[in-house]
Amino acid sequence: MTSRPLTGLTALVTAGPTCEPIDPVRFITNRSSGRQGYAIAQALADAGARVTLISGPVTLPAPDMVTLIRVQTAEDMLTAVTAHLPCDIAVCVAAVGDFRAAHPATQKIKREQLGPEGALTLHLVPNPDILKTISVPSPARPRLVIGFAAETQNVEDNAAHKRLKKGCDWMVANKVSEHEGFEQENNTVTLITPEQTDRWNTQSKIDVARELTRRIAAHFKKEEATS
Ligand code: CTP
Repeated sequence: MTSRPLTGLTALVTAGPTCEPIDPVRFITNRSSGRQGYAIAQALADAGARVTLISGPVTLPAPDMVTLIRVQTAEDMLTAVTAHLPCDIAVCVAAVGDFRAAHPATQKIKREQLGPEGALTLHLVPNPDILKTISVPSPARPRLVIGFAAETQNVEDNAAHKRLKKGCDWMVANKVSEHEGFEQENNTVTLITPEQTDRWNTQSKIDVARELTRRIAAHFKKEEATS
């Protein structure tokens, strides 16, 4: 295999958390650092792909030779993703918030506005599912769609089920807990494809990204050979 086997292919990577406003100073987010997604964008670019990275707010520097688009909310991320279709490869690594405030306040919510007990009830509505949306068969569908399933229990079963539910081609199952996955250097993942369930050793997020890129390159090489 050449050192730049993805030359001529376009890739889209989502990364980081999303950030959903409650009011101008408060928001709902999660613990995603963006490291795994940024490492994948870098590895795909190193392999020759033309990469667009659509990222929620993180503190990481932009990877080399990658077009970085910064977004805040899940809706912004979906808009940016669909604007970059069609493409050959999509890897959805972002920890997209599943819910957003139905009516974010335009001014800071003041305690005096709250009832006598000081409780605040937030009405949350579901966010769009970006991975599921782009996996729907259509002329714009990426040729290979890969998701990352963050699971705290029954990791492989849940991720295999999620792959079918979302309609993506591959799912990378990712165990997350207080000490694993989020905000860590290393990652322990299982790659689930229609053909196999492949457990990888715990390794750095950079090595996970390089291995996934090798698998992607092998997939396209095989596809080319059979077309
Ligand atoms: N995902 C997405 N849009 C969403 C939610 C998730 O694109 N609104 C993508 C993630 O980028 C990831 C995959 O779906 O590739 C799985 O995300 P995960 O958080 O594990 O699953 P959820 O769909 O949120 O399901 P649950 O929270 O029930 O585990």
